[in-house]
Amino acid sequence: MIDAQTLKDFVRRSKGIKILYVEDDRQIREDTMRLLLRFVDRVEGAANGQEGLDKYREGAFDIVISDIRMPHLNGIEMVRGIKKLNKDQKIIVISAHDEAQYLMELINLGVSNFLLKPLDVQQLLDVLSELVDYLWFSKLEHTYQKILENTVDKKTVELKETKRAIKNLTDELLQRLISAAEHKDSDTGEHISRMGLYSKRLAQELGVSQEFIEAIGFASPLHDIGKIGIPDNVLLKQGGLTRDEFEVIKTHSTIGASILSGSSHSNIQMAESIALCHHERWDGSGYPAGLSGEAIPLEARIVIICDQYDALVMKRPYKPPFQHKKAIEIITRGDGRTLPTHFDPNVLDAFIKVAADFNAIYNKNSD
Ligand SMILES: [Fe+2]
Ligand SMILES: [Fe+2]
Repeated sequence: MIDAQTLKDFVRRSKGIKILYVEDDRQIREDTMRLLLRFVDRVEGAANGQEGLDKYREGAFDIVISDIRMPHLNGIEMVRGIKKLNKDQKIIVISAHDEAQYLMELINLGVSNFLLKPLDVQQLLDVLSELVDYLWFSKLEHTYQKILENTVDKKTVELKETKRAIKNLTDELLQRLISAAEHKDSDTGEHISRMGLYSKRLAQELGVSQEFIEAIGFASPLHDIGKIGIPDNVLLKQGGLTRDEFEVIKTHSTIGASILSGSSHSNIQMAESIALCHHERWDGSGYPAGLSGEAIPLEARIVIICDQYDALVMKRPYKPPFQHKKAIEIITRGDGRTLPTHFDPNVLDAFIKVAADFNAIYNKNSD
């Protein structure tokens, strides 16, 4: 027996519920539809299975109530057709006592609600109220699910935008820091950006981690940032430097490292290491510490070859640009100033393998 509160809930929750009622007996159909309309806003009737299936195809129904024995297309065939269109469709089948043999087939088709003829109003309301509750809660669940999904989507987009903004900000600040140093030096912006590209290519050839490759691409353009601290009369001097002046130039490595020191970001830590050690040589003849072999961090052993190659192929105030082939020859055989012993043999091997890519990077990124 449906109680007053359940009936109240039923009426409230059945707002907007749409029922398709299929029954060939016109009198029963009209009486039942009139009864249903006391609780539900929208009820459509159909006089046989075929008409029921046609109406079902046209409109979305929340609940289908159907007779079994009907002309044209019987209830079972219609249920089969409906379940093919929507396997979750809620269906109530009304059967006569002598139709029990069809019930198994209907259960197999996914029908779980049955009522006996003659139709008992109370039983019909009980079953309907159960189905309406089910539909109401599923709709509620679906709505919350949608809200949740939308919120997650929105937050994901926001997070992506924030990450992009931070990256842009970082890149811009980096460019501005580098350009502050450039203002003082004859190094061009192209040299700086080529350094990032060469270093990444060479690191890749050496088989290091993707993280290392990204970090060196970020860090190597900062190798000469310490030049910002070198007095103009030394840094921009035309012609040869005195021994003392060269000692001043050499401090750009330690100045650069101190500008970048103490960071908790691994990319900046790598930049510090490169700024400090990019003039250290494998044979120990470099500066500032005269480190040799693997005591020099790998990133600095990579950057020194890139820096050397670019210095050779580009035009400097004190030298003409060398052809790619000539630059390779100087790096691999030496010219008295540059010696192959300055470089890590492994890194040098890798450089020779990707030399053609260095040439392409230079051609694509020079004015
Ligand atoms: Fe340098
Ligand atoms: Fe450089």
